[in-house]
Amino acid sequence: MNLLQFEIKVKEYSDKSEMPENDRDLLDKAVDATATAYAPYSTFNVGAAVRLAGGKIFTGSNQENSAYPSGICAERVAIFAASSQQPGEAIEAIAIAAQTDSFELLNPVTPCGSCRQVMAEYQNLSGKPIRVIMKGMTKKIWVVDGVEDLLPLMFHADRLKNR
Ligand code: THU
Repeated sequence: MNLLQFEIKVKEYSDKSEMPENDRDLLDKAVDATATAYAPYSTFNVGAAVRLAGGKIFTGSNQENSAYPSGICAERVAIFAASSQQPGEAIEAIAIAAQTDSFELLNPVTPCGSCRQVMAEYQNLSGKPIRVIMKGMTKKIWVVDGVEDLLPLMFHADRLKNR
């Protein structure tokens, strides 16, 4: 038996002023997008902003539904908007922010498994890393430089080919 161990790297910033300007702007847009969330069931408002390689930015927020599984996370709203309007263009970065009055959020919000898998799809498609910038309700920010740091051993459809 071999024990395989994988290392993930997460950068922690104590304030957004420590980040490069374009990522700071993207994060501001994600924070603004929390105001457009439709989250009457969870009262957890999430905003996301995606920057494409050409510089265009697409935003999204979580959209819930009384039939719970029909809702969708902010990250997928923003990513699918970007991919459907600029198909094939690499995603450079995604910023995520959250806002709730219902409880204390001490750490940055981290994407759910389905959103991680969706990010993996587009990262694998372009072959270029997607930086993921995460913020909660404090000034603390977490950044990973690629989806593999959020989803080790990720599923690649490519690996099913050429058998
Ligand atoms: N949610 C997001 O939009 N993104 C995340 O990263 C975490 C969870 C949404 C889904 C649901 O509308 C609400 O937050 C509570 O889970």
